[in-house]
Amino acid sequence: MENKKFYITTPIYYPSGRFHIGTAYATTLADCINRYKKLQGYETYFLTGTDEHGQKIQTVAEKRGITPQEHVDEMAESAKKLWKEMNISNNDFIRTTEERHEKAVDKIIEKFIENGDIYKGFYEGWYCVPCENYFTELQLVNGKCPDCGREVKKMKEESYFFNMKKYQSWIENFYEENPNFIVPDSRRKEILNNFIKPGLDDLCISRTTFDWGIKIKSDPKHVLYVWVDALSNYITALGYLSEDDTLFKKYWPADIQIVGKEIIRFHGIYWPIFLKSLGLELPKKIYGHSWLVMKDGKMSKSVGNVIYPEDLIKKYGLDATRYYLLRTMQYATDSVFTPEDFIDRYNFDLCNDLGNLLNRTIGMINKYFNGYISKKYKVSNDVDIELEEFTTNTIDEFISQMDDLYVSNSLSSVWKIVSRTNKYIDETTPWILAKDESLEAKEKLKSVMYHLAENLRKIAILISPFMVDTSEKIFMQLGFDNQFFKTWNFVKTYLEFEVKVTEKGEPLFLRKDREEEIEYIKNLMK
Ligand code: MSP
Repeated sequence: MENKKFYITTPIYYPSGRFHIGTAYATTLADCINRYKKLQGYETYFLTGTDEHGQKIQTVAEKRGITPQEHVDEMAESAKKLWKEMNISNNDFIRTTEERHEKAVDKIIEKFIENGDIYKGFYEGWYCVPCENYFTELQLVNGKCPDCGREVKKMKEESYFFNMKKYQSWIENFYEENPNFIVPDSRRKEILNNFIKPGLDDLCISRTTFDWGIKIKSDPKHVLYVWVDALSNYITALGYLSEDDTLFKKYWPADIQIVGKEIIRFHGIYWPIFLKSLGLELPKKIYGHSWLVMKDGKMSKSVGNVIYPEDLIKKYGLDATRYYLLRTMQYATDSVFTPEDFIDRYNFDLCNDLGNLLNRTIGMINKYFNGYISKKYKVSNDVDIELEEFTTNTIDEFISQMDDLYVSNSLSSVWKIVSRTNKYIDETTPWILAKDESLEAKEKLKSVMYHLAENLRKIAILISPFMVDTSEKIFMQLGFDNQFFKTWNFVKTYLEFEVKVTEKGEPLFLRKDREEEIEYIKNLMK
């Protein structure tokens, strides 16, 4: 029997400042995939959290005149609040300063030592403080950090190293044998050709220059370099090496680990090697997504082009914000946030296409059949059959895109069904059928209403992982309040039923004035 469990993770975020809309994307994406799997009957586990150690956090706290602990406590609370506001369905929220994590990390280090994978030496290199990462001379871009473009400084210190070289041939083989370990494929090639094949360097895993971190027990002047600490969260949160490791046994290895493009390297090289050293299985898939950027480049406070999710939610609602993020972000390329695009998607996709389809349907069912719909028609004409076939095929397309993580494309598929169903109204002209007294016309009209309601039911199931409330509103307005109608197994079926729709349909989204809203969104950028 198929194993119906599913474990998904997001990166754990640095709580150095407020989370912007770009950061919120990965969590929304993971939430959507998690809900999709749950809908399909998987037992899912979804982890997110905060990466709270390191020099950068220490510096931010010092600047604020508070302790690092006070700073991260405050930030972790606001992160949890944001995820709640965004209806994120995570099962756990791990903080790397929690005792459960620190204790397990101590044991992980002990295991590395036992395996002879760690040795003491000296590290010298170019260090980027904000990225907490050393670079070789060759890796620098115009003498600056290749990841963030900021200044780097030369540093030398006594450090512990992880013997990555020992795993060189193992990881090369692993990549060879598991071509889908990292997706998109372009990212996999980049990691393999630019980082693995040229030869791995041993990884410096400790620091003596700051103390906000997990100390190496046997040599406490050394504080763990953030990546060993951070990457371990995916297993410590499940209780690995703790008294109760039930969750670990049940859910590890992860099915999908979602990470941003600049941290695939850590997840695609160091993480598998750490796991190999621990004798653990590797995650099944790492998805390295691209970035949401602004017209003038990266979102940055100093440029003043940052958008915060709370501001969009307050004005346009959560579902419009989630829809925008999941629709705009492409599988393998960066996507640009523009106020124009945001408001057009809101007005066209949500108000016009989806909102009007529901509104017209509810209005007509009330007007022509006092609110009742049922599958009690005898005629089944070509237009109906064509609509049914189109819908079923497009649902298959949706599923295959979701399964391949082409999440934006899968939303496009849903909107193909929305448009096709709107077109079906024009093709069948219910207002003309309604004027025709014949029995045949009445039956046809019933069939049209039935098909509209059924397609909206299917649409509501398909969008439920993306827009939880909107999906629920569609079910409720159509009278599909029984769980039966919301079941994934019936997403492709045209069901037999009789239900009564709401008397007055509330609009799902209120149309907005384009120019006014563009100005409004521009003013939100900070
Ligand atoms: N703490 C590390 C991750 C450790 S995981 C074991 C970290 N934190 S971060 O806060 O800097 O970034 C977290 C994630 O947010 C990264 O995956 C990064 O790609 C993502 N994003 C940051 N800005 C983003 C956009 N503008 N768009 C999309 N994702 C963005 O790295």
